[in-house]
Amino acid sequence: MIEMNNVKVKYPGSKTYALSDVNINIEKGEFVFIVGASGSGKTTLIKLLLKEMDPTEGKVHVAGFDYAKLKRRNIPKVRRRIGVVFQNFRLLKDRTVYENVAFAQRVVETPGRYIRRQVPAMLTLVGLADKYKSYPKQLSGGEQQRVALARALVNKPEILLADEPTGNLDPKNSWEIMRLLEDVNKKGTTVVVVTHNKEIVNMMQKRVITLKKGEIISDEKKGGYIDED
Ligand SMILES: Nc1ncnc2c1ncn2[C@@H]1O[C@H](COP(=O)(O)OP(=O)(O)OP(=O)(O)O)[C@@H](O)[C@H]1O
Ligand SMILES: [Mg+2]
Repeated sequence: MIEMNNVKVKYPGSKTYALSDVNINIEKGEFVFIVGASGSGKTTLIKLLLKEMDPTEGKVHVAGFDYAKLKRRNIPKVRRRIGVVFQNFRLLKDRTVYENVAFAQRVVETPGRYIRRQVPAMLTLVGLADKYKSYPKQLSGGEQQRVALARALVNKPEILLADEPTGNLDPKNSWEIMRLLEDVNKKGTTVVVVTHNKEIVNMMQKRVITLKKGEIISDEKKGGYIDED
């Protein structure tokens, strides 16, 4: 589902590689944590998977697409198959919860009759059915993150990428988000989660890929959090 071969990334003006010699193979249906100290290259890796940027060297394949050969006009087609959640939620402030989720479907031109059915179903899944009329600022951080998750999932992506989805949440809300990610994974979605949350990584016993200064220093099937800081 996700393949990176000898990937290197050097940002313009930088002397060092943000990623160097990264080789990753993630099968359909896997749940993978990406961990590592600040600046180790985690977000850079997520950006490559979204084709928000291209590697300086090496190859990236996602959902059967060779990113080097992907035409610009086909990028939306790939993105439709990938759901994304960020640490700061990135919700539309002047739209209701319902509209925030529906927006993701309007962008990919989902017919209205599906939107009216799928948005409430998604909000029920994340436990926010009764908040559909609220605006983001009327919600707690945990609730906002659940809206972001509903939005990421409403198009039924094959892959869910989450960059620090619990970075702004307390332990209880962090676990709720993780349980939701686990449920989504059990239904078949490939899930990749970047996190600093040591406790969650150690408890969940999933595959853990550890980055250090742009290199993979460990890739364990049932791993734990390697403390490098
Ligand atoms: N746009 C950019 N231009 C130049 N250098 C960058 C850019 N974005 C990131 N970097 C550098 O690339 C390296 C990896 O950054 P990245 O954002 O991938 O780290 P990270 O593992 O996500 O860190 P954090 O845990 O703090 O989010 C860092 O040294 C960073 O300073
Ligand atoms: Mg980051």
